[in-house]
Amino acid sequence: MSPSPSPFPPPLPHRPPVLPLSVALGGRRPTLLLTGGAGVLGRALIDELAAEYRIVCLRHRTPLQDPRVQEVGADLLAPGLGLTPAVWRRLAAETDVVVHSAAATNWRAEPAEIRRTNIEGTRAMLELAEAAGAPLYYMSTAFVANPPSAENAERFPGAAAYLVSKAECEEVVRDSAVPAVILRPSVVMGDSATGHISGAQGLTRALGAIVKGQVPVLPGAPEARIDTVPQDVVARATGDLVRGGVTGGAYWLTAGEHALFQHEVVETCLEFAERYGPRPHKPRMIPLEAVNRLLLPLIDGAGFPASLRRRLRDYAELLLVFQRDLPLGTSLGTSPGAPPGAVLGGEAVSRDFLRQALVRNLEYWAGRPGGMRTRRGAEPRPAATVTRELAS
Ligand SMILES: NC(=O)c1ccc[n+]([C@@H]2O[C@H](COP(=O)([O-])OP(=O)(O)OC[C@H]3O[C@@H](n4cnc5c(N)ncnc54)[C@H](OP(=O)(O)O)[C@@H]3O)[C@@H](O)[C@H]2O)c1
Repeated sequence: MSPSPSPFPPPLPHRPPVLPLSVALGGRRPTLLLTGGAGVLGRALIDELAAEYRIVCLRHRTPLQDPRVQEVGADLLAPGLGLTPAVWRRLAAETDVVVHSAAATNWRAEPAEIRRTNIEGTRAMLELAEAAGAPLYYMSTAFVANPPSAENAERFPGAAAYLVSKAECEEVVRDSAVPAVILRPSVVMGDSATGHISGAQGLTRALGAIVKGQVPVLPGAPEARIDTVPQDVVARATGDLVRGGVTGGAYWLTAGEHALFQHEVVETCLEFAERYGPRPHKPRMIPLEAVNRLLLPLIDGAGFPASLRRRLRDYAELLLVFQRDLPLGTSLGTSPGAPPGAVLGGEAVSRDFLRQALVRNLEYWAGRPGGMRTRRGAEPRPAATVTRELAS
């Protein structure tokens, strides 16, 4: 399926695929320079690419401690990436491919800081890629298709700065002379088979709160789409493009029309909760228009306990950014520009696959601190007493 119309500029013109690098390099393992390797997607990208690439990670604060990669301390915001000129030049000489996945993703940070990290960081990585003569794969977001309204930008400045900066980064990438691929994942969940995820995502916390019965109202209509894709699906699609030598284009790594509806996500959470005890109260879902007009002013007023107010604001922020009534476009499974028989943009996802992946993610969350493990009596009931099995 081709991507649905977006308010943002059209995808980059497609550049013809080149020979896979290892072939072009006469069998030498190509060097891939990765930013954000310690992040949620970075870890999944390492799993996907480590077998074929020598991976050098520009790491920031978090050590990777992964024997498959070489770490180099760096800061996107520092002049020359915070590298010595000699190290910068060495990296430029060694690098065959750049994957730029690092970004300021914390919406509680200063909006100006978010913008600077994302935009200046992308410029700095393009500069290095240009010196290396290497293509750059830029990890954007599918929610560039959801530009924040003025009202939401005022109410949620961090989330708005993130979204606007990601769209501006795409422009910076598009305007550069470096052959570049733009990747647009939707909300990334943990691994489709194990549920494993290396960081706490806002969405996981929100779903966990539904499982615990802590969510009285949920911003967004039952039919709103929650477009979320497992991290391994995003990593596989990225890997396909890198390995396939694709050096142009924009790819929507999304569920698209297969994205689950909010009521299905909620139902999955409630059924999952039944493994631990009585079914929690179903959150009342309210249409998005009513969130801004009614719910948020109500929350901001007196009378709501501070913790509930904070939680509802967090959900509203998350869902205002990540929900859409219409499906996003998707490139998964389309292999645009691929030679016959080759897959370049990952596999398409089905609704069943997504539902099962969601259950695996809930299982992983439930077994972690802050999940269901620490709650008194919150061990799963024996299989025989679980009346409805969630995933086949
Ligand atoms: N996760 C999602 O749902 C999702 C969805 C769509 C698109 N994306 C995009 O995918 C990319 C990866 O997301 P993610 O979820 O993996 O993010 P993440 O878990 O928050 O990781 C972000 C990474 O960026 C690094 N970083 C932040 N500031 C830096 C700086 N100044 N210099 C160098 N590195 C810096 C962080 O290092 P430290 O932690 O050491 O600071 C971390 O490794 C981002 O571009 C994001 O916008 C993510």
